[in-house]
Amino acid sequence: MTIRTHYCGELRPTDVGSQVTVCGWVDTRRVHSEHLAFIDLRDHTGIIQCVVDEKLDLRSEYVVAISGTVRTRFKGKSNEKLDTGEIEIGDCDVQVLSVAEPPPFPMHERTEVDENIRLRHRYVDLRKPRMQKNLRTRAKVNSSIRASMEKQGFIEIETPMLIASTPEGARDFVVPSRLHPTNFYALPQSPQIFKQLCMVGGLDRYYQIARCLRDEDLRADRQFEFMQLDMEASFVSQEDIINFVTEAVKDATETVSGSRPSDIPRMTWLEAMERYGSDKPDVRFGMELIDMTGIFEGTEANVFKVSCVKGILYKGGSDVLARNAIDALTEKCQNWGAKGLAWFRVGEGGGLEGALTKFMSEEEISEVQNCLSAESGDMVLMIADERKVVNHVLGLLRLEIGRPPVHSGELEFLWITEFPLFGDVGENGQPIPAHHPFTMPLEEDLEKLDSAEGDEYLAIRSQAYDLVLNGWELGSGSVRIHSPEIQSQIFAILGIEKDEAQEKFGFLLDAFRYGAPPHAGFAFGIDRLTAILSGEENIREVIAFPKTQSGSDPLTNAPTLLDAGHLEELGLRLTPPST
Ligand code: AMO
Repeated sequence: MTIRTHYCGELRPTDVGSQVTVCGWVDTRRVHSEHLAFIDLRDHTGIIQCVVDEKLDLRSEYVVAISGTVRTRFKGKSNEKLDTGEIEIGDCDVQVLSVAEPPPFPMHERTEVDENIRLRHRYVDLRKPRMQKNLRTRAKVNSSIRASMEKQGFIEIETPMLIASTPEGARDFVVPSRLHPTNFYALPQSPQIFKQLCMVGGLDRYYQIARCLRDEDLRADRQFEFMQLDMEASFVSQEDIINFVTEAVKDATETVSGSRPSDIPRMTWLEAMERYGSDKPDVRFGMELIDMTGIFEGTEANVFKVSCVKGILYKGGSDVLARNAIDALTEKCQNWGAKGLAWFRVGEGGGLEGALTKFMSEEEISEVQNCLSAESGDMVLMIADERKVVNHVLGLLRLEIGRPPVHSGELEFLWITEFPLFGDVGENGQPIPAHHPFTMPLEEDLEKLDSAEGDEYLAIRSQAYDLVLNGWELGSGSVRIHSPEIQSQIFAILGIEKDEAQEKFGFLLDAFRYGAPPHAGFAFGIDRLTAILSGEENIREVIAFPKTQSGSDPLTNAPTLLDAGHLEELGLRLTPPST
């Protein structure tokens, strides 16, 4: 067996004269003559040039061990792009360890390769420097999170994968039970219930780098399977949790990037919605939503005779947005729920120009322009509707026009606090929880629970908080209800009957009867953090074996059919999908 003495990428001029053995994959080979070839040998640390002066049949991606002497390259032959570019290995003795078929795609990063082909041959794709770097970054994130949590007194506890459903609100993946025909396990959407049970169990500070599974549509920041730093602690406040998580995120970021993020600012949910139209605001760029409702009190313009009017300033937008681009944006705004998009250019003379100006008073026109400080060449984009619609649509419009790629620029972490307890009110007047039904209302708003009706529920705030990074939701958490009285009240407001509550969460409610400490927790997505720290826009690039956009794995062909015997054993009979 060949003994490797060095990694390819770690050799330096100080090694000149040493006898070394390196192992890896043939990256490229340049044949000079029948008896002279240059082999670039690659491993995860980099590339070293090896000069081979015997006749050998070596192809790309062959696995070889090369022994030889490190020497300085000839004058003028250095390669500045390589860390090993001043040296090479000469007098090489080459041992072929594995032959290889030609790779299914070019191994150079420059070439865009179809995702399906990359994933079909992921084992080859993983050899590329980009994936090597990303997965090593991920490992660093994981280990620094572990160290950080342990430093803060948390212990790692594993929770089960085969469970009953968890209340995270996505669809469960389910597993049929052979021993209990007709029954199914759910795979955990998160360890939520178990970590709360750990608190009742006196474990005090729990964490887990936890695999979670959710059957939801896949996007750049979503996979079926993903990893969370999941944590929960007893006898703590929201403030403590925010501090624990901040420390872990800062430690992980510092380990990867070498610099420690400064203090993470905070914003209430209400402020985020008003200023950015989003509960995960991307604060890397301006274009804040400016309230102009006051300007249009008593207006003659029908479009602005509504409860809320807001606008954003697109600096220099007049030169960028041609008429057809504005039409396309208008259509988008309509799809997002607005009736239309009011737009104005600021002309050369500095005045607002647009079809709607003829319905507006001089005063309205100048106030709109002044409140945005709009100057010649800028564009003013406005939405008039109910406040919720206005914030939602302008928030999306702002991202559409101004958003840089998620990893570019500075890392802008932001805590969002005081989330509403309820996300919406159903047609029956019953509120729908914004987080999960165990979230504790804000102390000051507890009283409102008794008296609220209809939309008044939406003003009740909770002790729920999110961490946002560059416009992505990195994580969320809350102080939990540990009092059976408040919990029953919330269930009653949500219309969850006693029996239903008992059936769904009975084991948690039962546990709470045996002495539950006040507790709170949080979970953040490790895939998302790693992607941004790795300069990637899709979490797929930081997962060793991800699924495609359509949820399949071209490597193993999952999901696959089950054979008849297997189905029989599980007591399952399939009906053809209804199309
Ligand atoms: P939540 O559902 O907000 O909270 O999830 C926490 C974080 O997990 C990540 N995440 C995902 N990452 C990749 N793909 C997905 N499909 C996906 N879904 C979620 C996100 C998200 O912010 N139990 C609660 C936490 C708590 O209250 O303690 C929970 O799971 O980064």
